[in-house]
Amino acid sequence: MKRFHKKHILDMASLNAEEIDHILNTASALKEISERPIKKVPTLRGKSIIHFFHEPSTRTRSSFEVAAKRMSADTFSISASTSSMTKGETLLDTVTNLQAMNPDIIVMRHSASGAPHFVAKHINASVINAGDGMHAHPTQCLLDLLTVRDAFGKIDGLKLTIIGDVFHSRVARSNIIGFTKMGADVTITGPCTMIPKGIDSLGAHVTYSLEEAFSDADIIMALRIQKERQNNFFFPSEREYATIFGLSYDRLKSINKKALIMHPGPINRGVELSSDVADSTESLILKQVANGVAIRMALIYLLMGGTRDAHSN
Ligand code: CP
Repeated sequence: MKRFHKKHILDMASLNAEEIDHILNTASALKEISERPIKKVPTLRGKSIIHFFHEPSTRTRSSFEVAAKRMSADTFSISASTSSMTKGETLLDTVTNLQAMNPDIIVMRHSASGAPHFVAKHINASVINAGDGMHAHPTQCLLDLLTVRDAFGKIDGLKLTIIGDVFHSRVARSNIIGFTKMGADVTITGPCTMIPKGIDSLGAHVTYSLEEAFSDADIIMALRIQKERQNNFFFPSEREYATIFGLSYDRLKSINKKALIMHPGPINRGVELSSDVADSTESLILKQVANGVAIRMALIYLLMGGTRDAHSN
């Protein structure tokens, strides 16, 4: 596939395996730009990208900014707390006003599931979902797929175990869809209160046995306990969660000696992962962050009509 025909990147369900492969290959080809002494190409000069973040973010927001600047696009940022949404302006009015400035792409994070899909129906610019509520985080899934492919040379046939707060996790939902589409086996585990009913319909195997979930996993992905989304009591205390479900290096090695570790960030150190796991040689966490720049460079490039072999030097 040379040309990419999507207008928006809203979720992993809308991408097929060939399109995912094309994005990963494009990101791999663009990676070397970030290793040059002058980390910039003129490819997207004259294009404008608005970063509209209605929820906090460190990794996603900064890597979209870095990616756009490396491709020479102009960027403008707007946060909920500094926008007129604090004065009662609706989401639709906000984005139609942003559209009036004629951006090429709006990158959007929102606390409401489905918000980027709604916006995409009402504006001309391309929309990239940078995380919506508990629904989807497609660019996180794509950077996770690239990180696994870099580490193992393949995705097909690998065993990925996701542990933790699946209930609130858009990363888990996107990764179950994305990894199974690319041929991996995905197992979900964690406290039964945090494994939503029906999650297996997305293609994951569910087990409450940590021994079964971990013993032959190639990759173990721990999820953040999302304190900001917890209206109910899902577990008695963080201390108890860490004791039963937290990963320490000794515990990990006693069950599985080969697995590599991932986490989408931000980490609650000492809760889902101890520091000796997060900072270990088995940890891919900072490689995930580095690949986030390459994936976001690839997405803005492809949405603007770029072909894999033709990015400007
Ligand atoms: N992984 C992720 O989405 O991190 P941020 O919330 O910091 O963007």
